[in-house]
Amino acid sequence: MNRLRGFLLSLYGLKLVKVCSFVLFHQRYSTTKYFVLHSKYSDIRRNYEQWEMKREEMELSPALQFQNWLEDAIAAEDTEPTAMSLATVDASGQPTQRVVLLKDVSDAGISFFTNYNSSKGLQMGHNPKVSANFFWPLLERQVRWEGRVSKLSAEASDNYFASRPRESRIGAWASPQSRAIGGDDMLMERFRKFEQQFRGKEVPRPPHWGGYLIVPHKVEFWQGRPNRMHQRFVYTLQPDGEWDLMQVAP
Ligand SMILES: Cc1cc2nc3c(=O)[nH]c(=O)nc-3n(C[C@H](O)[C@H](O)[C@H](O)COP(=O)(O)O)c2cc1C
Repeated sequence: MNRLRGFLLSLYGLKLVKVCSFVLFHQRYSTTKYFVLHSKYSDIRRNYEQWEMKREEMELSPALQFQNWLEDAIAAEDTEPTAMSLATVDASGQPTQRVVLLKDVSDAGISFFTNYNSSKGLQMGHNPKVSANFFWPLLERQVRWEGRVSKLSAEASDNYFASRPRESRIGAWASPQSRAIGGDDMLMERFRKFEQQFRGKEVPRPPHWGGYLIVPHKVEFWQGRPNRMHQRFVYTLQPDGEWDLMQVAP
């Protein structure tokens, strides 16, 4: 009788352990019961076969390699060739992304412009680590940058701001980017207000608007290849300032 009781108790104990581990596991990695067997999207895929990277032809710096690919994307008339998805992290550790346009590339890094008080601006103020991703579908290519941002000088931001169309310059004053607004009417009212304010004058750069430079420490070039045997080449910055180039599995 005692042995049977012991046996039943151990079974119960085992079940308890299972239940506890289930609860703990699902707290960390909660899964969903929904899974895709076959949906109308599941067969959408392309075989990539247009281009092949040759290691010996790759540039010594990622900036040069990137310039070559960006020129290819522009020549191929890929839509929005300078568009990149910029990932930042908020104070709780939550990553978030949005598209911004690249405005320059050099050995120093890549730059873009935005509102310093926007969500991304505030996030980069707390945590300057960012990632940026370019996807050029016509060329079956992706480039992923990792690095830290710093603000461009006021002079550099002034120069670029001055080159923008007047309406875009007024828009930079009118739009409290990322803040809640009452609707389009309110935005247009603000636009008209600043249009009036700057009538007959130059539109100066708002103090809350300017550029950032992403200074990279890692840049990955991805070339789609047949049968998912894609090519990935990763440049990593070394302590001596040189770039190491390594191929990694797709
Ligand atoms: C094609 C495209 C280009 C964009 N370019 C910029 C840009 O250069 N700068 C910018 O601040 N927002 C740009 N945006 C808008 C951003 O994606 C985003 O909505 C905005 O910057 C607010 O982001 P945040 O609230 O995360 O700060 C662009 C959006 C698209 C779709």
